[in-house]
Amino acid sequence: MTPGPTRVPDRVLRAGAVPMIHHRTPEFSQALIDVLDGMRLLFGTDGDVLPVHSTGRGAMEAAIGNLFSPGDELLACCNGKFGAMWASIAESYGVVVHRISIEWSQSVDPADIHAAFEHHPEISAVAVTHCDTATGVLNNVAMVCEIARKHDALAMIDGVSAVGGVPFAFDAWDADVAVTATQKCLMCSPGLSFVALSNRAWKATERATLPRSYWNFQAIRETLNAADAETPGTAPVHLVLQAQEALATVLAEGLDDVFMRHESMARAVADWAAARGLAQQCPDLRRFSPTLTVLAVPPEIDPRAIKKAMRERGILIAAGLGPYRDSAFRLGHMGDIRLADVRRTLEALDAVLTDLRAKTPVPVGGG
Ligand SMILES: Cc1ncc(COP(=O)(O)O)c(C=O)c1O
Repeated sequence: MTPGPTRVPDRVLRAGAVPMIHHRTPEFSQALIDVLDGMRLLFGTDGDVLPVHSTGRGAMEAAIGNLFSPGDELLACCNGKFGAMWASIAESYGVVVHRISIEWSQSVDPADIHAAFEHHPEISAVAVTHCDTATGVLNNVAMVCEIARKHDALAMIDGVSAVGGVPFAFDAWDADVAVTATQKCLMCSPGLSFVALSNRAWKATERATLPRSYWNFQAIRETLNAADAETPGTAPVHLVLQAQEALATVLAEGLDDVFMRHESMARAVADWAAARGLAQQCPDLRRFSPTLTVLAVPPEIDPRAIKKAMRERGILIAAGLGPYRDSAFRLGHMGDIRLADVRRTLEALDAVLTDLRAKTPVPVGGG
């Protein structure tokens, strides 16, 4: 029940536990094609989706390296750890970063984006996180894309904790870059990411001068378009096979049903929390992600004690991140997780919270 890496179903594990297939064979090409076709459905695009051999952060870095030149200006929506990550990666490459929405407890505000473009008309791209795994926000990425379009800037979306669990409409939103990784809603082992790119993004790769080699998007596209689709170097074969199986599982369940399952798990957690007077860590967010919930811990209880007690009951949950390290815990409900897993977790949490409250010393003078 962590927000990633998530549980890998047996059939996905088994798909990756087979004798090696050489990566320059028709069998592997077919697996790669199946995976990229499946990812197109998850991203909601008819355009290019590339594999990037790394976890999500590497794919974000690859996007920066392929699309920018030193001194280019990026607007980064920083309402969470991963929004801030876009900013720090870009800065490390010599991109000039303008940070907005730095308050983690708030959703990205369109007025801030408009104001940033007014003050910095040279901004050439806006980066945003769809679901920030630190807060549970689901940012309005359609709105971000719309504003970026008006200003002729690229819209770049980190969909690592959202794609596959939340409807994603790359083409309909007219987005330019979207990134996701295998270890969250895709319920595979970590180590492989995907990037969706618009035609405008491809044009930007032609102008961009930042160094790129291993993650050169143009080189990756060239090998994918060869007679037998392949990758420039050795591919993470077993991860691709896992992803092929995971995507087949997701598509067999049906994307709409998958999204509804995620919604119903989030609702079950929210109702449970409300019934017990437990608050969301960031109650003012405009929209919460169906893929995870970040709950504030009652002040008398240490979140680490909750995590430890849950672990002793065989259930892994995650601690709060950044400023919420000591005040929150995070429940992932994404990928292979089902409502029955959520119910079992909430029952265990009830027992754990009761135990921990019973052990909390009554303050002097208290009743
Ligand atoms: C929203 C989001 N973006 C980016 C990342 C970084 O991805 P990775 O850990 O796969 O490198 C994570 C990781 O948890 C994430 O949750």
